[in-house]
Amino acid sequence: MELIDGKKISDQIKEEIAVEVEKLKASGGKTPHLAAILVGNDGGSITYVNNKVLACEKVGFKSTLIRYEDSVTEEELLNKVQEINNDPDIDGLIVQLPLPKHISSDKVTEAVSPQKDVDGFHPVNVGRMVANLPAFLPATPAGILELLKRYEIRTKGKHCVVIGRSHIVGSPVSILMAKSAYPGNCTVTICHSHTHNLKEICLQADIIIAALGKPEFVTADMVKEGAVVIDVGTTRVASSVTKSGFKLKGDVNFEEVAPKCSFITPVPGGVGPMTIASLLLNTLKSAKKEVYA
Ligand code: GUN
Repeated sequence: MELIDGKKISDQIKEEIAVEVEKLKASGGKTPHLAAILVGNDGGSITYVNNKVLACEKVGFKSTLIRYEDSVTEEELLNKVQEINNDPDIDGLIVQLPLPKHISSDKVTEAVSPQKDVDGFHPVNVGRMVANLPAFLPATPAGILELLKRYEIRTKGKHCVVIGRSHIVGSPVSILMAKSAYPGNCTVTICHSHTHNLKEICLQADIIIAALGKPEFVTADMVKEGAVVIDVGTTRVASSVTKSGFKLKGDVNFEEVAPKCSFITPVPGGVGPMTIASLLLNTLKSAKKEVYA
């Protein structure tokens, strides 16, 4: 069993980006600039957004964090998105999800200019991804593919079972893993809450991508010997041993599943850090006008 070290790979990618940013600046190019909007006081969302902003500083990007109380109106938020769309210094904009119930995430997602949508959530980027056109790919799926690539994991002809069909992970990663590319060329099965015989399907998987948000859902009896297991879960559960009072739990029961795997990602330190690295890569691409000329 080999552990896939997402922390190590994401640090490597950040170093590569920092070198590139230095070169950009030295040649008179612009400093990449990411703007993040955070609504409310959810502990997880605050941590994620703070980590994104800190990562920007680390690689030499500019960053702008805009915070609103839960009570912000949809109109106020849409106006701010428009203002950022029109700001020529800002290359990328993310609106941290979920948003409060009185705000339509669909409306906000569609309001972000596709040219600045470094989360890859806008329907234009989703469509372009499906159509094999240059697009911002969503950060977590892109991070998963990068891990498979950097660990030289073979994917061609393999059966990839994705558990979960969210817009953020399950659905896009299924599309990417089936593409005629590397990583890709998989036979993909998408499982979800209505799937019959989930265990039997998982037992046929060469690669399992667990992205359903249920701690320790994938158990040893669901995993074939030698499988590659990618754990996207990051549920916060109360803990008396950590300073913060909680710890992150993956969707895979690591202890019992790991011994059966050829490769497995831990939680934390697997997919999570890669999400930020991919977001930085998208922002760099945007600053360099590499996706939309
Ligand atoms: N909420 C959970 N994951 C993400 C993400 O990748 N981007 C944003 N904006 N919100 C999220």
